[in-house]
Amino acid sequence: LIVKAFSGNLVIPDFSTFKKTVTDIYEELKDFKSGNPADYIPQLARADPNLWAVSVCTVDGQRFDIGDIDQTYSIQSTSKPFNYAMALDLYGNEYVNQYVSAEPSGHGFNEIVLDVRNKPHNPMINAGAIMVSSLVEAEMNTADRFEYMQGIFRRLAGDLHVGFNNSIYLSERSVADRNFALGHYMHEHDCFPQGTNLEKVLEFYFQLCSIEAKCDSHCVMAATLANGGICPITGDKVYEPRSVQQTLSLMLSCGMYDYSGQWAFQVGLPAKSGVSGSIIVVVPNVMAMCLYSPPLDKLGNSAKGIEFMNRLLERFNFHHF
Ligand code: DON
Repeated sequence: LIVKAFSGNLVIPDFSTFKKTVTDIYEELKDFKSGNPADYIPQLARADPNLWAVSVCTVDGQRFDIGDIDQTYSIQSTSKPFNYAMALDLYGNEYVNQYVSAEPSGHGFNEIVLDVRNKPHNPMINAGAIMVSSLVEAEMNTADRFEYMQGIFRRLAGDLHVGFNNSIYLSERSVADRNFALGHYMHEHDCFPQGTNLEKVLEFYFQLCSIEAKCDSHCVMAATLANGGICPITGDKVYEPRSVQQTLSLMLSCGMYDYSGQWAFQVGLPAKSGVSGSIIVVVPNVMAMCLYSPPLDKLGNSAKGIEFMNRLLERFNFHHF
């Protein structure tokens, strides 16, 4: 970072101007009120609606955080792209695509529906993520698999905070009728690899949703995707560039629930949101941002996070096309 800074080769040479813009929009939105925190489990419903944090991390490892960055939260569905990249790294797209397609679903994230091949539409919705969970190290025992997965997340975050929220995990598991229904439906349609233990697969899926981060560590995870799979603050190569390319493609087309089409049109960047109120946004080869504010809009995306991006785009054009 220092060498790049002195030789004038930083991807955002004028980082302080960018920081000022982020700070201005952050402040403007402090009193913005819209939406409610997710309420399907008490642990999420109890989140303080005023929590608000924004983090930025460039591919050079320049970082900026503002707001409640000491607050930990479960990363929920934002674990899905990372889990997918892990599966692509382990098995390659040809194998993974036999089990999960790469099409936007046009349905809600937990809808019980398969595509024309009788496969889940994509890995960014629950059915697809459950399928990917069944692939990731299918032969490992539960404890080894958890350790392996947590190790990957820690490397993605460059050793910033990555934990596990056991109460979220326990509540996810106790109100999981829909996810069990999805699992059984896919089992009925012979979607899983032979010998899959559905109970164990779902446990792994709930564990992924219960991974805990802070806005800054979550942002570095996303910045690893922006940087082709290499963590920008440690230089650790976590994923193959090809897996990252494939993952980002699906984040662009399917990462924001039923808002994905409009997001791709307007913002034009790969992103993923989760029900705890976080959105990770990737500007490939430049940087990542993480926005955290628990109240969700009608489509399930952090309302403040979306508004932040709308306002940022009035001042910077990040659109990929
Ligand atoms: O599967 C569930 O019900 C939650 N853990 C959903 C997580 C989430 O953020 C929704 N995503 N697609």
